Amino acid sequence: MSNDGCCPTQRHRALGTLAGAALLSTLWVLWQLRSAPGGVPAAPPPLTVLIWHWPFADQPPELPGNTCVRYGVARCRLSTNRSLLASADVVVFHHRELQTGWARLPLAERPPGQPWVWASMESPSHTRGLRRLGGIFNWVLSYRRDSDIFVPYGRLEPLEGPARPLPAKSRVASWVVSNFQERQRRVQLYRQLAPHLQVDVFGRASGRPLCAHCLLPTVARYLFYLAFENSQHRDYITEKFWRNALAAGTVPVVLGPPRATYEAFAPADAFVHVDDFGTAQELAAFLAGMNASRYRHYLAWRDRLRVRLFGDWRERFCAICAHYPRLPRGQVYQDLEGWFQA
Ligand SMILES: *[C@@H]1O[C@H](CO)[C@@H](O)[C@H](O)[C@H]1NC(C)=O
Ligand SMILES: *[C@@H]1O[C@H](CO)[C@@H](O)[C@H](O)[C@H]1NC(C)=O
Repeated sequence: MSNDGCCPTQRHRALGTLAGAALLSTLWVLWQLRSAPGGVPAAPPPLTVLIWHWPFADQPPELPGNTCVRYGVARCRLSTNRSLLASADVVVFHHRELQTGWARLPLAERPPGQPWVWASMESPSHTRGLRRLGGIFNWVLSYRRDSDIFVPYGRLEPLEGPARPLPAKSRVASWVVSNFQERQRRVQLYRQLAPHLQVDVFGRASGRPLCAHCLLPTVARYLFYLAFENSQHRDYITEKFWRNALAAGTVPVVLGPPRATYEAFAPADAFVHVDDFGTAQELAAFLAGMNASRYRHYLAWRDRLRVRLFGDWRERFCAICAHYPRLPRGQVYQDLEGWFQA
């Protein structure tokens, strides 16, 4: 908590008299006690985070008062009640609904000095309309590590308890893809790999969709999972890596940001990076020629780490309160587009 301008000692010097200081000290103590019967300082009131539009949903989930407590964040109230605009401590705007025009910024009703957060977990390739959003937002919530509120898709945490057994493997490589377009780098790479490597493709694009709870057990039977991001951008590592591969118990073959970015999140030998190979054919030969002892190294992390997935928007929004005391006051993203595309 900031003490600027509040403290009796500072005012003492300004007044230059002991009497003045004593009087102010007394008033200050009385002010502190005013709402705290029995002399116990009152707990700070909860922060109110207004979510202007729930991401990708017309109907927000239930947001009981203890929502953030479940994520280990105290004194944080999430609400979608727009009547709170005048009083909310922070207002969050998820980009997709601004992009489609489904939600509009209440610029005329914005209380002076109210911090606004721009939130998105999509990559710049799937984000339009940022130019007109310059000069509005104070903080960014995204997967970018330099976000004010950094919310990765997943994280490795120390494992408590015994390691889970490794799923039995019967095949080499799988890939789940719903949006398959020839101009995507991941599709081009798949086309180059396919003649040299048996890749079983699932998902809407292949006509072999997997039900929600079938995906992990299915891909777990493979040595490798093609964790190919739909577009390649700074820090853009999604649930394809965290959930479909690491959490499933298979080894990700990654196409995304450079190897150094992945190494900031996971052990260097927990994944195969496509950039480690000169050609797709070399990559295919490496994967197809894997032997058991070498393969075990890729999964050694499972003895000491576990995957924690962050997929829930409630948890992401609660993170605003956790970061709030340290968020830079007075900051404005004048060129949000330039920042996001960098
Ligand atoms: C929204 O907040 C206003 C002001 O606090 C309150 O009067 C109203 O009942 C709330 N609406 C809902 C749906 O909770
Ligand atoms: C497994 O592959 C590695 C690397 O190619 C090699 O050094 C090692 O000798 C192989 N082990 C066996 C048991 O074939």
